[in-house]
Amino acid sequence: MTPKKDTPLYQWIDSHAHLDFDRFDDDRGEVISRAKARGVSRVISIGTRIESTERAIALAERYPEFIYATAGFHPLYMTDDHEEGWRSLEELIVHPRVVGVGETGLDYYYDHTPHDQQRRSFRRHLQLANRFKKPIIIHIRDAFEDAFKIIDEEGIKAGGVVHCFTGGPEECLASLERGLYISLSGIVTFKSAKALRAAVPLVPNDRLLIETDAPFLAPTPHRGQRNEPAFVVDTAHCVAQLREETLENLSLLTLENTARLFSLPAIEVSL
Ligand code: NI
Repeated sequence: MTPKKDTPLYQWIDSHAHLDFDRFDDDRGEVISRAKARGVSRVISIGTRIESTERAIALAERYPEFIYATAGFHPLYMTDDHEEGWRSLEELIVHPRVVGVGETGLDYYYDHTPHDQQRRSFRRHLQLANRFKKPIIIHIRDAFEDAFKIIDEEGIKAGGVVHCFTGGPEECLASLERGLYISLSGIVTFKSAKALRAAVPLVPNDRLLIETDAPFLAPTPHRGQRNEPAFVVDTAHCVAQLREETLENLSLLTLENTARLFSLPAIEVSL
């Protein structure tokens, strides 16, 4: 999809996608081309297990200006939660193409990982992020209270983001108080997400990120399809409307915030 001639092509960063997933194996190159064609200049590919992190790093090496990787065990994919797995994770965290720790966090919506195992793993990720001074990528679903308790106990030294934020105003303010960034996904485009949409204008300009969480949760008007980084632009349009902000501003501030949080090299913005 190319913009109409009179529409400037703004630049965007998809701060959270799972480009290593096998759902992209058949057409990953085209997915990347479509993203670039819509102005997406960077994607952070988020590791969910050891193997997934290794694949994300391989992608980051193959597309050095475009893809960056993170290293972690997703709370719903805990198959590597054993001492050997943790040793491997530590080695991956210090890899130069790895810009953050996670995704980690707590998901009490699904039951396939025991909650106490999730809490132990989240705590350990926070300790590693603090030790290696890398930002933490946090997934929280139906578990804000426990997540905040662990965050308060461990502290966050190198910043962090609540990715695919699904809370309302109260959870948003509580996250901001803890110094966290808020990353908005395609869920904000769903009219039914009333509390979340009410929280969108509360995020200060210097704490806002946007993401797809691809291949999951495609925004309107792609709902039900496989999600991909190009669709972050549809989420951006919706966020700009909800915040009564220009696309240009939103583009600039989300580029800057993502680069600051993940210590990415500066990007040249030509508008
Ligand atoms: Ni994710």
